[in-house]
Parts: sequence; C-alpha cells; structure tokens
Amino acid sequence: MKEDYNSSANFYDPLLYVFIQPLRKAVLNELLEHKDKAILDLCCGTGNQLKLLAKNGFKDLHCLDLSETMLRVAKKGNYPLKIYHQDATETGFEDAAFDVVILSFAIHEKDRETQERMLEEAYRLLNQNGLILIVDFVFDDKTKNIGRWGIRLIEKMAGGEHYANFKKYIQNNGLASLVKEDKFRLVKDSRMGFNGVTISTYQKS
Ligand SMILES: C[S@@+](CC[C@H](N)C(=O)[O-])C[C@H]1O[C@@H](n2cnc3c(N)ncnc32)[C@H](O)[C@@H]1O
Repeated sequence: MKEDYNSSANFYDPLLYVFIQPLRKAVLNELLEHKDKAILDLCCGTGNQLKLLAKNGFKDLHCLDLSETMLRVAKKGNYPLKIYHQDATETGFEDAAFDVVILSFAIHEKDRETQERMLEEAYRLLNQNGLILIVDFVFDDKTKNIGRWGIRLIEKMAGGEHYANFKKYIQNNGLASLVKEDKFRLVKDSRMGFNGVTISTYQKS
C-alpha cells in the first residue's frame, strides 16, 4: 500500500495544532474513566493523541500505523507507547485484545472497502462491550457553513485520492451509513469544529 504521509509527518502536528488540540482534549475527557484499560489507536499517525493520554496517567497504550515516517515521529519523546507498523485492515492482534479502539481522522480519506475493513477489524479487536471512539468529519443539518468551508479547504489541500474519498464519504452521509447498528451501538455523539467534526462513541453490540 502506498504511503501518503512521507512528506507531512514532521509538520503534521504543528500545522494542525490549533484545529486538532481541542479534539485531542475532548477524546481525553471521554476516556478519563478508562485509564486502566488497553487502548489501541488504529491509524495513530504521530501518536499525538496517545501521548496526551500518557501525560494524563494512561498506561496501556498501543499505537498502530502503516506509515513508517508517521511512526518515527510517534517514537519521539519518552512515552510508554507500544508501537506497531501494521495495516489497520488486517492486524496481527488476537480477537478481543483491546478495551478501547480509537479511529481518528482515518476513515474519511479511505475508499469504501477499506473503511469497512477497518471497522470490521476494530470490531474483531474489541472485547465484549468494548468501546470505539471515532473522530471524523460530519456534514449534516447541525454543521455550520464555516465548518464545511474550512474542512473542505483542508481536504482539498490534501488533494488526489484523499480528497476524492473525502467527497464520497460526505456524499454517502459519513459514519451514519458506514457503522452497522448490529455491530456498534451509538452511545454518544459530541460535536466540535462548528459541528463539522464528531467524536462518536460506540459500544460493541
Ligand atoms: C489523517 S492521518 C490521522 C492520524 C491520527 N489518527 C490523527 O488523528 O492525527 C491518517 C493516518 O492513517 C494512516 N493509515 C492510512 N491507511 C492505513 C492502514 N491501512 N493501516 C494503518 N494506518 C493507515 C496514515 O498513515 C496516517 O497516519
């Protein structure tokens, strides 16, 4: 599979800091009562979310990504992260290995088949009643125009296949048409970024 983040890995966090930091804190707050749990960030990128969890006392943290350059950034600093260079659609973990899976900005840029395979893998990896937190874009009647505009701009700058997949994801109604109710029960939908970003918490059914 082609690596998309070779050139941007080193400036990904500083570039997106203003946009992304409030979301990282919101995810932290969602997970505060799960500090002792095994947490997998599937498509963890630079590990920025898990590092924030580590700073706040979380210990059992697993960071998986396909991009070596992103993972090189994730390895920086003294954080108790276990890091895996693997494909999120087909990981080497055993069934039910984790209590919580995070999928943050990993879905919208993928084609439909990969999106479905990532969710199937997350389902397999979660133990009974485990939680999945999906942070991603949502365009619906709650989304403010300024949010739509800003997000479209960021995605357009990413360009190519990434942007084409984003457009299809939005046309297909995002997570609402993707996450199967018989697999995951929606527990909470928090909105940020002018209601253009959801932090959706689902429990494995
Ligand atoms: C937009 S970045 C998001 C990174 C991070 N989750 C965040 O919130 O900043 C998407 C990440 O997904 C990774 N990725 C894409 N396809 C993947 C796959 N099949 N398996 C694992 N990681 C993948 C990319 O390498 C990249 O790091």
